[in-house]
Amino acid sequence: MSFPKNFLWGGATAANQIEGAYDEDGKGLSVTDITTAGSLDAPRMLTYKLNGKLEKTPAIPGAGLPEGAVGAIDPNEYYPNHVAIDFYHHYKEDIKMFAEMGFKTFRLSIAWTRIFPKGDEEKPNQAGLDFYRHVFEECKKYGIEPLVTISHYEDPLYLSEKYHDWGDRKMIDMYVKYATTLFEEYRGLVKYWLTFNEINSTLLMLSSFGNNVTDDKVYQHAYQKLHYQFVASARAVKIAHALDPNYVVGNMICGIVDYPLTPDPKDILANRHMWEQNIFYCGDVQAKGKYPTYAKRLWNEHNVHLDITEQDRKDLLEGKVDIYTFSYYMSNIITTHEVKDKVGGNFAAGVKNPYLKYSEWGWATDPDGLQYYLEVMYDRYDIPMMVVENGLGAVDKISDDGKIHDDYRIDYLRMHIKAMERAIDDGVDLIGYTTWGCIDLVSAGTGQMSKRYGFIYVDRDDEGKGTLKRMPKDSFYWYKKVIESDGKDL
Ligand code: BG6
Repeated sequence: MSFPKNFLWGGATAANQIEGAYDEDGKGLSVTDITTAGSLDAPRMLTYKLNGKLEKTPAIPGAGLPEGAVGAIDPNEYYPNHVAIDFYHHYKEDIKMFAEMGFKTFRLSIAWTRIFPKGDEEKPNQAGLDFYRHVFEECKKYGIEPLVTISHYEDPLYLSEKYHDWGDRKMIDMYVKYATTLFEEYRGLVKYWLTFNEINSTLLMLSSFGNNVTDDKVYQHAYQKLHYQFVASARAVKIAHALDPNYVVGNMICGIVDYPLTPDPKDILANRHMWEQNIFYCGDVQAKGKYPTYAKRLWNEHNVHLDITEQDRKDLLEGKVDIYTFSYYMSNIITTHEVKDKVGGNFAAGVKNPYLKYSEWGWATDPDGLQYYLEVMYDRYDIPMMVVENGLGAVDKISDDGKIHDDYRIDYLRMHIKAMERAIDDGVDLIGYTTWGCIDLVSAGTGQMSKRYGFIYVDRDDEGKGTLKRMPKDSFYWYKKVIESDGKDL
């Protein structure tokens, strides 16, 4: 067995990381629009005004802006997402190149603030609707199926401030109105929808990646925010199905594989509990339609009391997702023991795995982890799955021959494609694979351009200099071959 003929090969992006044009054609400000650039050692910052003065604070999950602060743009700061790779004005050229590689699908997200600039308007912004219509039509021209993330780390700034980052039930109505507008507008142009990108990242950021948040108030907010997002997602699924039976709606989980460091039963249990909190919790609610039994333990550990209504529970059950999708980059190690050999890097601080190699940003390359994840999750949910992000962030250099020989990226992707093949052979119903950052884009974690993932190089650097010219890398021609041969010619 191998990859099926109709397998959805493609690539993935997010609006705030590619589009730029952050204030064009009526677009409002999103949370990312007030986020500065960072690096491996320095966090990205949120800029705001307090008592008329411009200030900044690290963009740390759960921290948010200080009381009374209003997100604002500081003319002396650099915001990489404001121009990004200017997909807004280059989409025709970019989609043409995706088509040249033979993409069957292109994952992109819609910027909520192009459709509802503040988030609570009566009517959508026509220019925003038109932009995505043109993008989808361009995809259709080449037979590329759009895979659309409704919300990818780009909440409207206005709503985020007014409702304290999903701290209010009213956010559900705002999201549902936005999602319904999209489902109505793009019927016939889009089939696949994902409700929230990496919905579990709210929990992951608290106790993984070297973070160890202990404040119960932060957990209360995180679990309540997630509940409102689960309900918003479930209601969106129900509406999508009612509007068009062809719609396929998925969740999207940040798929990190945790391993116990030792056979100490305490490590095994700690590892299991980490899976429950970080991975299973969100997937269970979205794919099984109800809270799992261990949820009570997770809430009790941090004194969490949730606002959940009977109608919410009904919606969760009736709004189960059709497909389970996830991102996969790396694995992690969990232990209750003291360890010396730690691995640093953005999003990766933890115990070093001696069997794995690490990227320049400290991310462990672990294709077997992808096979493991696919097999565990398919067995658990029994619905079709898609890997909607996977890739290697690396520094690319233009060689003397004017080309980019990114064999390291090809190696990484090849190993992960082989892992997916093994999972398919084991019976996993895997229907698609979209590599992350099929064209170079702004890193979400660090705001850098130099952390490149693309098959297509974009001439732009960490300071915003460059011509924005596009150029295929070696991996471009390699991936074309992979798609052409249905994954045989690796
Ligand atoms: C995922 C996000 O977590 O990882 C993407 O969905 C992000 O938005 C990707 O870009 C890679 O992370 P980074 O920090 O290298 O951009």
